[in-house]
Amino acid sequence: MISYLLCSALPLALTVAASESASSFAGSTVSDVFPPPGATITADQSYFPDASQVEYAGPTPTGAELEAIATAPAAALNSNIYPLLAPQTPYSGTGAPFEVIRSWGNLSPWFSVGSNAFGLATANPQVPAGCELEQVHLLHRHGARYPTSSDLPTLFAAHLHAAANSTGFSATGPLEFLNTWTYKLGAELLTPFGREQLFQLGVGFRVKYGELLNGFIDLPVFRTTSNYRMVESALNFAAGFFGVPDYQTSYHQEIIIESGGFNSTLSPNPSCPNSDNNVAGLLGLNATERWALVYLNMTASRLQQYVTGLNLNATYIYAMQQLCAYETVALGYSAFCGLFTEEEWRGFDYSFDLDFWYGSGPGNPTAAAQGIGWVQELVARLTKTPLTTFDTSMNSTLDGSNITFPLNQPIYVDASHDTAISTIITALNFTTLAANGPLPIDHIPAFQTYHVHDIAPFATNLVAQVLSCPASLGVVSNTSAAAGSASYIRFLLNDGVVPLTGISHCETPDPNGLCLLDNFIQGMQERIAEVDFVYDCYGNYTAPLPGSDNIIDGRAPQ
Ligand SMILES: *[C@@H]1O[C@H](CO)[C@@H](O)[C@H](O)[C@H]1NC(C)=O
Ligand SMILES: *[C@@H]1O[C@H](CO)[C@@H](O)[C@H](O)[C@H]1NC(C)=O
Ligand SMILES: *[C@@H]1O[C@H](CO)[C@@H](O)[C@H](O)[C@H]1NC(C)=O
Ligand SMILES: *[C@@H]1O[C@H](CO)[C@@H](O)[C@H](O)[C@H]1NC(C)=O
Ligand SMILES: *[C@@H]1O[C@H](CO)[C@@H](O)[C@H](O)[C@H]1NC(C)=O
Ligand SMILES: *[C@@H]1O[C@H](CO)[C@@H](O)[C@H](O)[C@H]1NC(C)=O
Ligand SMILES: *[C@@H]1O[C@H](CO)[C@@H](O)[C@H](O)[C@H]1NC(C)=O
Ligand SMILES: *[C@@H]1O[C@H](CO)[C@@H](O)[C@H](O)[C@H]1NC(C)=O
Ligand SMILES: *[C@@H]1O[C@H](CO)[C@@H](O)[C@H](O)[C@H]1NC(C)=O
Ligand SMILES: *[C@@H]1O[C@H](CO)[C@@H](O)[C@H](O)[C@H]1NC(C)=O
Repeated sequence: MISYLLCSALPLALTVAASESASSFAGSTVSDVFPPPGATITADQSYFPDASQVEYAGPTPTGAELEAIATAPAAALNSNIYPLLAPQTPYSGTGAPFEVIRSWGNLSPWFSVGSNAFGLATANPQVPAGCELEQVHLLHRHGARYPTSSDLPTLFAAHLHAAANSTGFSATGPLEFLNTWTYKLGAELLTPFGREQLFQLGVGFRVKYGELLNGFIDLPVFRTTSNYRMVESALNFAAGFFGVPDYQTSYHQEIIIESGGFNSTLSPNPSCPNSDNNVAGLLGLNATERWALVYLNMTASRLQQYVTGLNLNATYIYAMQQLCAYETVALGYSAFCGLFTEEEWRGFDYSFDLDFWYGSGPGNPTAAAQGIGWVQELVARLTKTPLTTFDTSMNSTLDGSNITFPLNQPIYVDASHDTAISTIITALNFTTLAANGPLPIDHIPAFQTYHVHDIAPFATNLVAQVLSCPASLGVVSNTSAAAGSASYIRFLLNDGVVPLTGISHCETPDPNGLCLLDNFIQGMQERIAEVDFVYDCYGNYTAPLPGSDNIIDGRAPQ
């Protein structure tokens, strides 16, 4: 199971004995807190007035709201990783372009993916000429975080610290750093870089879409879940979007409970019991576990020669690759990164593609059902129609209220998790992303359209632009829309325009990825009808083995 609660999944067979972790080690060897214990934190507040109440602030005139997504001649793209030191394993020059930091699946930071990432060679994020922006919907992931509590890095650290404590341990050559290395990571929370990612996403969204704020008749409601890193992410986004300290009074932050027994479209996993019945495949190993044994087959023996007193196997090697990613996004640098080749990084990246495909993507029988609640909300927002039926992951108390689920916003912002976003993308039927499925477990396919580093990296962002375009633009030939202007919708995933041609009524290819809004809504209504939430989430069926199934749209075999 990939649980959204444990954002990245851990292959079972790649997990070391729990007793080792429990008895000797459960996290960082150091757990710093701030303020440091004993520090004086009570000062006379009259010396330090509240910054939002400051007197003598000087003039505060504002300028016009910005709409760079329509007014700038080109899109500003994101490749920022400051202050991280990107690992520099050289690119061999063959195969798809390669960078280590973009080869960590859902542990990569988000980057703008490039115009052709999803097959629309000439499309770009800018509003097409002649069209006007009416509305924008943003669904984003939290920023870079520490490992989740059960992730492999702590288990590797337990193994190493125990070995290093006993006599006979020594490491040389590329592993020499292990003689002094200690585990320093916390768990679950955002890293400083993760906070920066969300702040920056908020700033970018204000510059691109701020003009839509002029259309609000009430304060915006933005949504997140109660998980602490989700709250941190939402507030950092708001701080970037509205500015500090203004964000505290500029909008309402809705916090939907994320926990077992609660409904939430932004963390739908607990609403879908069958999502836990994950398909162990042949020999009791699932897709990711089997693939790790293949691509890391030779790596353990290559590295074992540099260390005595510490047994390395595929489990520990996989953990060391994860440590490279986690240490880099937390500490800014990792000595583990230099240990691996381009081929091993490509294998690592693919391990996440398999994990998401079979765990929360097109190859999973509950993925569409888990994501469909958010699609129902999207349709309600697009049609401005109050929700009245609550038979999926929606919370009727929240979604049935026009206070907590307003339908008149020009801007919607929802924060979520990687696996939840993966299920939502499956529910949206973005079939071009799934075009080369089912994914093979014994090799990386030559043509791959499903990349987790594009779908669910840290701070991943899916943007729906609702546009009014003149029919004369001829973007979509449809006689019923031929007169005057019509509303269209299109989706940008990390700035790549997603073709919508796999969705009923959006089949007509469009170079800008546009679909008539009415047609898209009709397609989504059909999608909602075809996804059987009760059967997929509660039904008694046997999920097919990964690698031998043909599920490609996230629904249980009927
Ligand atoms: C690696 O060794 C650990 C500890 O003995 C074990 O739990 C794990 O299953 C091993 N992994 C593999 C792939 O053999
Ligand atoms: C290392 O040994 C010391 C002293 O025996 C002990 O207190 C400590 O818990 C050990 N650390 C680990 C990680 O086993
Ligand atoms: C729905 O949300 C409300 C408000 O947070 C909460 O009190 C209630 O327990 C939730 N119900 C479910 C089923 O999630
Ligand atoms: C590992 O490599 C050996 C030697 O090439 C091969 O016989 C074996 O099948 C490989 N194992 C896996 C799981 O690919
Ligand atoms: C593989 O198995 C582990 C442990 O059960 C699980 O966490 C992970 O989600 C599984 N991955 C897939 C792709 O099924
Ligand atoms: C939670 O979801 C279940 C399953 O769809 C539904 O029966 C129930 O009414 C929902 N509860 C609320 C408060 O929305
Ligand atoms: C919200 O719902 C209440 C109760 O149905 C209604 O009185 C009010 O006008 C609604 N507000 C808006 C903005 O639709
Ligand atoms: C044209 O638009 C109508 C209604 O908006 C829709 O029912 C129909 O499927 C569309 N046809 C094509 C070819 O897109
Ligand atoms: C969703 O995609 C599948 C193919 O994967 C297709 O059979 C189905 O008709 C699509 N449904 C809708 C409503 O677009
Ligand atoms: C599920 O189906 C299997 C096979 O038909 C049956 O043996 C089993 O009792 C069923 N389980 C439940 C809980 O209905």
